[in-house]
Parts: sequence; C-alpha cells; structure tokens
Amino acid sequence: FTVPTPENEPVRTYAPGTAERESLQKTLAELAGTQLDLDMNIAGQWRRGTGAEIEVVQPHKRSHVLGVTREATDSEVADAVAAAKAARRDWAAMAFVDRAAIFLRAAELISGPYRDRINGATMLGQSKTAAQAEIDSACELIDFLRFNVSFAEGIYRQQANSSKGIWNRTDHRPLDGFVLAITPFNFTAIAGNLPTAPAIMGNTVVWKPSTTQQFAANVIMQVLLEAGLPPGVINMVTGVGQAVSNVALLDSDLGGIHFTGSTPTFQHLWRTVGENIAGYRNYPRLVGETGGKDFIVAHPSADPQSLAVAMVRGAYEYQGQKCSALSRTYVPASLWKSGVRDAVVGMTEDISYGDVTDFSNFGGAVIDSRAYAKHTALFERLERDDKATVITGGSADDSVGYFVQPTLIESSDPTHELFSDEYFGPINGVYVYDDADFDQVVRQAADIAPYALTGALFANDRAAIARTSEELRFAAGNYYINDKPTGAVVGQQPFGGSRGSGTNDKAGSWQNLVRWVSPRSIKETF
Ligand code: SER
Repeated sequence: FTVPTPENEPVRTYAPGTAERESLQKTLAELAGTQLDLDMNIAGQWRRGTGAEIEVVQPHKRSHVLGVTREATDSEVADAVAAAKAARRDWAAMAFVDRAAIFLRAAELISGPYRDRINGATMLGQSKTAAQAEIDSACELIDFLRFNVSFAEGIYRQQANSSKGIWNRTDHRPLDGFVLAITPFNFTAIAGNLPTAPAIMGNTVVWKPSTTQQFAANVIMQVLLEAGLPPGVINMVTGVGQAVSNVALLDSDLGGIHFTGSTPTFQHLWRTVGENIAGYRNYPRLVGETGGKDFIVAHPSADPQSLAVAMVRGAYEYQGQKCSALSRTYVPASLWKSGVRDAVVGMTEDISYGDVTDFSNFGGAVIDSRAYAKHTALFERLERDDKATVITGGSADDSVGYFVQPTLIESSDPTHELFSDEYFGPINGVYVYDDADFDQVVRQAADIAPYALTGALFANDRAAIARTSEELRFAAGNYYINDKPTGAVVGQQPFGGSRGSGTNDKAGSWQNLVRWVSPRSIKETF
C-alpha cells in the first residue's frame, strides 16, 4: 500500500471582497446566533452530561454565551473508558488502509465543507482572528491528518533483517490499552491531533478537550464521525477533568497519555501515574507538550527590521497564547537605540484588537477570567517594581471581553521574573545588553528559564550563528535562525521541547507516532 504523498494545505487569505470571506462571515453569523448544547460523545452517541453546567462564552464578548457544556461524572467517564476498551480489538485488527482512509476523508471534510465551521468555531470560542484560525485550526489539522497517515505508513514499513531459513518480522501493534488525550484551548489543530495520532496507529482513545475549546471540539468530533470513525474509537468527554483523574487515569488498562497544556497539570498526571504504577498492566506512555518561555536572542549583526517584525508578530499574534509565543527578547544596545525600539513600539501601538469577527483586527481577547486575572496581577506587581519599566501597554479591560493590551517591558535585571516566568499572554520582556556582553547574555538566556520549547537567534555573522546555536543547543526544541519562534508547520518543523516544556515527542512527525505502537518482534524459522 502507498498512501497519497502529503502536501501542506494551501492557506486562504479571506481578503476583503472574496467569496471565501463572505462564506466565513455567513457561518460566523449562524454560529453566533444559536446557543448549542456542547454534549459529549461516547461510543458514537451524543450524550448530555449530567454534571454541573459550564457556559462557553466568546472571550472578546463575554456576555455572549455560545453554548453550554457539562462536567462529566465518574460514571460517564467510566462509560467512555469501557467504550474505548470495547472498540479496541476490531480497530486494532482493521487493515491500515481502511483506518487511513477515515482520517484522509476527515482531512477532506475539513478542507471543504467543514472549513468555515471549524474556523468560525475557533474564532468565536477561542477569540482567534480569521487569519490565525485558518493557519492554526483548519490548515494545521488537515496537515496533521494527512502527514500522520503518511508517517504511519513509513513506520509500518520498518522491518527487521531476515537471513537464510529465518524470517524476522516486526508487528507494529498498538498499545495494549487505551490512550487518554487531554487537549488545550489554544490550537484547534492540537485538539484534533492528540486523539487522532494514537488512533491512526490502531489505538482507541478517551479524549477530554479544554472546556474553553469545547465549541470547536464538537465540530472535530462531528467531522470524525462523518468520516466513518467507528463507534468507540475516540470517545469525547467534557468538563474540567476531575472525573478523568478519578477514573480514566487510574484504570489498569491505561496505555498512554497524549497531553498538551500546562506544566503543573502534566506533572499532576505524571505524579498520579507514578503513585499508581503497580496498578497498570503496562507502563503508560506519557507524552506531553507543556509550558514555555520562548525567546529571541539578537546578535549585533542582526537585521533590525526583520528583528522588529519578529518581536511584534512572535509576541502578540493570538494574544501571545501560542505555546511557541515570544515572551523574552535579548537585544544589543546598539540596535535597540538605533531604531529597533522605536520600530517595535510603533508597530505594537498600532495593533488593533477587539471583536475577531471584525476582520480588520490583529487580535482578540485572552481566553478567560483566569488568564485575565494573571495579567492584571502582573501589571499591579510591575507598578511597585523599580527593576522593570513598561515601555508600552500594561493595561487591561474586561468590561466587554478579556482584553489585555500588547505589552513591552524592559528590565535591566536578567534574573527578573520577566525572563523566567510564563504568563501565556501578550507580554514581551526585553533585556538590553552591552554589545560586548553577547556571549554572557547567550549563556543566561540558555539557562534562566525552566523551559526549552522554542527560541530564535537573529544574526548575520556566520561565526556567531554557529557558536550561539551550539550554546543554545538544549535551550529550545524548535530553534529558528532569523525568524520568529512561532508558526511551526507540520511536515516541515516537527514541534516540541524538553525541560519543563515536555517530553519532546515532536507533534506532526514519526517520532510522535512511534510512541503509540508497542512492537512485537516475530522470528519464524523454516
Ligand atoms: N505549532 C505551534 C507554533 O509553532 C505551537 O503549538 O506556533
């Protein structure tokens, strides 16, 4: 068998006056006009949860309730686990080409009839602009599905050597248990990738999306069922997750966890699995992508204009809520004073943000009241802090939505919290250094934060690029030379980091998919 060679999905522009924009706007109006019940789906059946109600609102217009979801109870999660177990045997036995066809069909559905719905749900539910939704939900999810099917085929082709009278084979079995996928609010594509990657490899899944992403998660589930996913292969439960911890996490058949979210939550999962380790039939595979404190280090030889643009786009696109978003920048005084500061401040102050259904806005709101409160607390701390100066931004307003101003803060203390703590919002901390101190600054940048997700170096001096890249070797799992640290593309820059940022099992690559198989070596003699 040979699956189609994947290509990255072409990105639509939604330029003014295009039929594409008109169609998306129509869908947005429809989606905003109906309050949906955001139910769970167990064994292919939509089911209204019986736990507490949770309102899902538009972050940029928080009085607008998009839908109501409900906390899954222990018995509902137990049903999802039972459905995943019941579906295992048939799913694992299905020929790869038949499984592959389901996910390729899902990619076609998102590329065509469901594109506006996926993008529209992401825009309204997660406060993402059309341009960002198109890249981070529709296109990236299509890419995950198509590329993962192709990577899977590559894995199945890997075989052991045989010799005369002996035929050795590798049977790439799925895990001997179900996979628990827990997904974040910020990327609809990640929400779709985390349950489908293990499923492509023949596993069945219990999936718990973030409550603040539930609006788009329901569309993903609908697409997968329409594409022909058999009942029980992916079971979606709703809510904040206490029942998942009580039930799914402790189940003896837990085969693995596919997680993207905060570092403390992943550590909680890991700890719980550790404490219960004798209670599992297998050692669960733990795959997580977690926090970040992503950086740009600029060398005096950097191009000032491209550095300034990267600082603005890297830090403020999607309100800084990408795992990869820039949040600390090291700039030489020579560049900062000769135009980079003014260019960055000018572009940052020109950013328009508000309702994302107004296509002229560059950004929307942060996701919820908790994210908002984290930023107002930071701004209050900074007022009393004589080691940091807010250059621009520094205010917030939640009267209509959870709006936080794109903010640039300078500190002369390289150990300031600005350079080590994750805020997950539109905050960029700047450290301006004397040009002669470059090497020392690189060492500080490499080690100050407990994370290692993304980072970028801006430089034109080849020797500096070589030396610095070596120094920063373990400081980022995704490392960019002369580009912003966001926007990894499936099949081009496999994504993930180490240290407090995760297990670095690269999303959108064969390295991730091999975590979802447990191979059997077979020797047959003749
Ligand atoms: N893949 C995203 C990016 O690179 C983050 O998850 O921006």
